[in-house]
Amino acid sequence: MEKEFLNKLYMKSRADRIKGLALSNVISTEDAILLKDDLHLPAEVADHMIENQIATYELPLGVAVNFLIDQKEYVVPMAVEEPSVIAAASSAAKMINLAGGFQTTIQNRTMIGQVVLKDIPDMIFARDMVIKHQKDILQKANEAHPSIVKRGGGAKEIIIRPIAADKTFQTPSFLVIHLHIETLEAMGANIVDTMVEAIKPYLEKLTNGTALMAILSNYATECLATANCRIPVWSLGKGEYTGEEVRNRIIEACQLAIADPYRAVTHNKGIMNGIDSVVLATGNDWRAIEAGVHAFAARSGQYRSLSSWSKAENGDLLGSLTVPLPIGAVGGSINFHPAAQLSKRILGYQSAKELESIIVSVGLAQNLSALKALVTEGIQKGHMGLQAKSLAISAGAIGKEVKYVADHLKQRKNMNLAAAKEILRQLKEK
Ligand code: MEV
Repeated sequence: MEKEFLNKLYMKSRADRIKGLALSNVISTEDAILLKDDLHLPAEVADHMIENQIATYELPLGVAVNFLIDQKEYVVPMAVEEPSVIAAASSAAKMINLAGGFQTTIQNRTMIGQVVLKDIPDMIFARDMVIKHQKDILQKANEAHPSIVKRGGGAKEIIIRPIAADKTFQTPSFLVIHLHIETLEAMGANIVDTMVEAIKPYLEKLTNGTALMAILSNYATECLATANCRIPVWSLGKGEYTGEEVRNRIIEACQLAIADPYRAVTHNKGIMNGIDSVVLATGNDWRAIEAGVHAFAARSGQYRSLSSWSKAENGDLLGSLTVPLPIGAVGGSINFHPAAQLSKRILGYQSAKELESIIVSVGLAQNLSALKALVTEGIQKGHMGLQAKSLAISAGAIGKEVKYVADHLKQRKNMNLAAAKEILRQLKEK
């Protein structure tokens, strides 16, 4: 990667940005040509993707720079409508680079499928039967999807989870059988659903129960990704605050998000600004990731911060983030959505694990940027320029008008849509 062409990318026009990405070898010449005409989901493809399709809903796709993850440099595509997200990711990644970038640990990618049984006449007998026939159950599951087994994946383990009846909620008891499945490079919803549905009748026979359902669980506790980072304390100083003060205030902000769910939700929303944008850009299922991540944040019984920030022995700031990330590197829209395919080429990831490393790192970067701004000058100041642009566009400004309206808006005491419209009206009357 020739990094000099990526300098101050945000100050360049879209055309120069694309040229810069091509010169730095982040994108190929073919992709630069493709991007020149913009990138659209072909109407024909969109029509076949969902029922009753009438249009496509577009979002800006941008790139965050400066990411050094496990010693490898990345320019990260992000699909997002919020103006400040990419700027925040790039600036935090730059800070994190000072001490060697992100280090990640990715758990074995095991997905969980559930078969839910009800009306079990004898729970102990049913449980013993499942334990006794574990091998057969796994074999039947694997026979239902031989191609994943051939590639080294497949159903590996069974976990039995009796769910006791609850008088308060008037729920009966259930016997839930978890199938742990290695789906390799795919997110694997189809693999998992095929396997759990295949073993459903056999489990009914073994337990004398009735199946209620068989489905993937999006609470992917066996597919965790962790990113760690270190920020030299001297680099954290901002305005009136010394580096030590900013570090301590970031740690306190995190302590608050561990203790207070009202703050934790916003804190984690900031993390998801980064995670969702990459999940979306790479063609993955962001609803699955959102649902799983927030359940994980509440695993202690209270909704808490997903990240942790602490002080290193030498005084540096240490950050860590762990989230369930059942994303795929193949399958679904990844195989045909032009933007997802472009994202894959830009990132050049070789495996789903590598993509997980990138996504969890972007989440941690996003959190650092938000916390640093919040505990120093506040969030509004840094956002002002981008918000002004967004308001200018909302007011109807186009082309050069956008910069004019945004610049004048920034000088106003109240930056709002009415002010933007007023500035635009005055400009048009000139
Ligand atoms: C805004 O999209 C995200 C933040 O609210 C996150 C946070 O408060 O930590 C800035």
